[in-house]
Amino acid sequence: MSSNIFIVGANGQLGTALRQKYPEARYADTAELDITDKQAVGNFDWSGIDTLINSAAYTNVDGAETLEGRRLAWAVNADAVANLVAVAAQHNMTIVHISTDYVFDGTENIHNEDEAFSPLSVYGASKSAGDLVVSLAPKFYILRTSWVIGEGKNFVRTMLELGKKGINPTVVSDQIGRLTFTSELVRAINHLLSSNPNYGTYNVTNSGVSTSWAEITREIYKLSGLDNTVTDISTADYFKNKENVAPRPLKSTLSLDKIQSTGFESKNWTEDLTEYLQK
Ligand SMILES: NC(=O)c1ccc[n+]([C@@H]2O[C@H](COP(=O)([O-])OP(=O)(O)OC[C@H]3O[C@@H](n4cnc5c(N)ncnc54)[C@H](OP(=O)(O)O)[C@@H]3O)[C@@H](O)[C@H]2O)c1
Repeated sequence: MSSNIFIVGANGQLGTALRQKYPEARYADTAELDITDKQAVGNFDWSGIDTLINSAAYTNVDGAETLEGRRLAWAVNADAVANLVAVAAQHNMTIVHISTDYVFDGTENIHNEDEAFSPLSVYGASKSAGDLVVSLAPKFYILRTSWVIGEGKNFVRTMLELGKKGINPTVVSDQIGRLTFTSELVRAINHLLSSNPNYGTYNVTNSGVSTSWAEITREIYKLSGLDNTVTDISTADYFKNKENVAPRPLKSTLSLDKIQSTGFESKNWTEDLTEYLQK
């Protein structure tokens, strides 16, 4: 089945996890297929592919607030998505796309799939535009997620490295949400593709208590047997006097009711964090 899958953005955190799950899938990184190149996407050989998974994105949230980053974010997260939607429609492919909590302003305690877009940042706005384009595809699944952790540079690795160096970090304590390990996203993608519930948007994060980055850092240190101290700081104070900082949603918890109602069993983030740290 997985030989019918094509993964774009294959070298990112999610792309890497997808390639491990679907070893027979075809895939491309930026060098092989730059999805902002409309002609290259249109002329690409899509024969034999029935599912196109877009794990590519411009994910530098603060970089997107710069002159150059703003253009890149819109090119990759919106325009390029339109290129993919066009070929998906033309070749009768299901498109799987990944959205973010940053499409919301983070004022609701918990976000349902049908909440109206209210992005605070350039990244959030460009991702919202991408979601809108995908929602026009004949066959699509959008997985809306938050705080993704996989292979590569990410929050858990950074905090662990600081901890091992004996540094006691000051960490934001007023952004509340849940981690999403790429393993959970891959499980959810596989669930949607194999059980085929109605096309549409599905929130996917790990389950478990919603908490702050500071509390997650304490958990990382506890599970790793480190006794570093973590000091709380507000988002506003953390970014005070820093340039090109994107505004962040403070409440990022995504309701998991919809995907769970299709038979998907979410895994608690502490369980996946424990396994991640053991690796
Ligand atoms: N990371 C998070 O915390 C988070 C939270 C919520 C939602 N998401 C969403 O989850 C999805 C996966 O995120 P991730 O963390 O796996 O991202 P990532 O690690 O930053 O990977 C993104 C990938 O996209 C590729 N890419 C960028 N521009 C491209 C282009 N023009 N053509 C082809 N590929 C291109 C990058 O390749 P290069 O390295 O060559 O540029 C990279 O391999 C994204 O849609 C993201 O918006 C992420």
